[in-house]
Amino acid sequence: MTSFQGGANPGFARGRRLRSTPAMRRWTAQTRLSPADLVLPVFVKEGLTSPQPISSMPGVVQHTQDSLRKAAHEAAEAGISGLMLFGIPADKDAVGSQADAADGVVNVALQQLRADLGDELVLMADLCLCEYTDHGHCGVVTPAGVVDNDPTLDRYAAVAIAQAQAGAHVIAPSGMMDGQVAAIRAGLDSAAHTETPVLAYAAKYASGFYGPFREAAEGAPQFGDRSTYQMDPPNAAEALREVRQDLSEGADAVMVKPAGPYLDIVAAVAGAVDVPVAAYQVSGEYAMVEAAAANGWIDRERAILETLIAIRRAGAGSVLTYWAVEAARWLQ
Ligand code: PBG
Repeated sequence: MTSFQGGANPGFARGRRLRSTPAMRRWTAQTRLSPADLVLPVFVKEGLTSPQPISSMPGVVQHTQDSLRKAAHEAAEAGISGLMLFGIPADKDAVGSQADAADGVVNVALQQLRADLGDELVLMADLCLCEYTDHGHCGVVTPAGVVDNDPTLDRYAAVAIAQAQAGAHVIAPSGMMDGQVAAIRAGLDSAAHTETPVLAYAAKYASGFYGPFREAAEGAPQFGDRSTYQMDPPNAAEALREVRQDLSEGADAVMVKPAGPYLDIVAAVAGAVDVPVAAYQVSGEYAMVEAAAANGWIDRERAILETLIAIRRAGAGSVLTYWAVEAARWLQ
């Protein structure tokens, strides 16, 4: 039997040499995470008198206008890059009128945050109709109940203009209608918002991990599901097609969503494009870790930071996460 004990040249590589101390591991880390990599999704609900906890997302609330302003200041202090805003209107209708009403809940929030913070944070407006329609679909529907692509594009263009007018720095369409980026770009340009970028939710999957979000944003479809417009989970090549299409329509940055279960897609997209790539760690990803941590089954902080570094390692430049402010404070 050969003994390797004390052998100068045992014939194998000693990977442990570079893992021996925290300082050594810090020096050799290939991927890093900093507050600037993080974006916080926030919910603001019309008519609330106090912030409402979301039971399936412990620690996340539906904000009042005032509590949102406070949260935005805290986000800026924590050093994250931006906010992604979602609005929940008091009144919903078939076409989502409140999405582009100047006094609609999200547009009021954008105005106030822009006035409060100027350009300190990147204010991103999620552009979709599902929180604003009474049927809960991301577009307008035909009498037969089909989500109608092309009439929806006109609505999206109007909403984009309203959001840019209200002060959004970035318009982020998440409805997965074909041609949405082109329609929004044309709308923005026609209203002199040529300098407002579009972050396209380019590869957005029809995911079971959006469950808790539907409680947060109150936009669950009242019939059917989103499988006819969001992508089918088995598909990878199609994600690249969606990304290329959105870039050809004028998208300035692209997003993959969800993040954790789709790291292969994040990596493929990051390798294929020359624009910023974001990934959205969605409500179900958040809820899983919170539930396991609440049961004492995993180390919460360690697990959270591991999910975030994994998304960065896959190639995402930025991560939308409900832990953005808390994680940024750990990283500061
Ligand atoms: C709306 C939208 C959804 C999410 C972001 N924008 C839900 C959906 O498409 O059903 C999900 C976010 C999350 O789960 O955290 N189009």
